[in-house]
Amino acid sequence: MKVDLHSHLLPGVDDGAKTMEESLVMLQGMAEVGIQHLYLTPHIRSSCFPNTPASLRPVFEEFRQAVARAGIAVRLDLCAEYYLDTSFMEAVRTGAPLLCFPGNYFLLELSMHQEPLFLFETLFEIQDKGYKVILAHPERYSFYREKMDIYRKLRQAGCLLQVNLFSFTGYYGKEVKSTVESLQKNRLVDLIATDIHMARQLELFQDKSLRKLLETIEVKNNQFL
Ligand SMILES: [Fe+2]
Repeated sequence: MKVDLHSHLLPGVDDGAKTMEESLVMLQGMAEVGIQHLYLTPHIRSSCFPNTPASLRPVFEEFRQAVARAGIAVRLDLCAEYYLDTSFMEAVRTGAPLLCFPGNYFLLELSMHQEPLFLFETLFEIQDKGYKVILAHPERYSFYREKMDIYRKLRQAGCLLQVNLFSFTGYYGKEVKSTVESLQKNRLVDLIATDIHMARQLELFQDKSLRKLLETIEVKNNQFL
């Protein structure tokens, strides 16, 4: 996995890295397992992480300078993980700039426990504004667990499905592991990413099953290199 599309390394802006030191340890660890390009995706969620592109950019620049000083050779880009709520839809409707990947893709997160009302209508509206959706960790939404038909429908509606690498290790529990394995068996995985939040998760890269997985799984990550 040369490019990671989902990570919480930017220090002090969400529930990810707490300090610059921790961020640098995380980035160094990711470079050591072969990641060459990292999209930083801090949460943007009005109720608990009221970040904006303008508030995140100076923190990103400071981080980039610290990375250069530390001599870590990983390409960095700033994106975000947008939570689907009324503030987000307001931003879409008013044409406020979003932090996007190349191709106008952006990372979208749903509530973990409550199925959004009118999700497909909402996705249509978002796409009608010219955006393309990468759905973050579909295997973690309890209301869709093992419902492969829903995942197929989400892809047919234009979403790319981004699963978390550590879901395959059982880090989020047995049910998430089982769902991500079903997604893989049914060839419904478009992208794989770490969604790393803290330095102690680096040890998960040592899980032996991941090496085999990364050698065999077919994903579209390199489209974003
Ligand atoms: Fe995340």
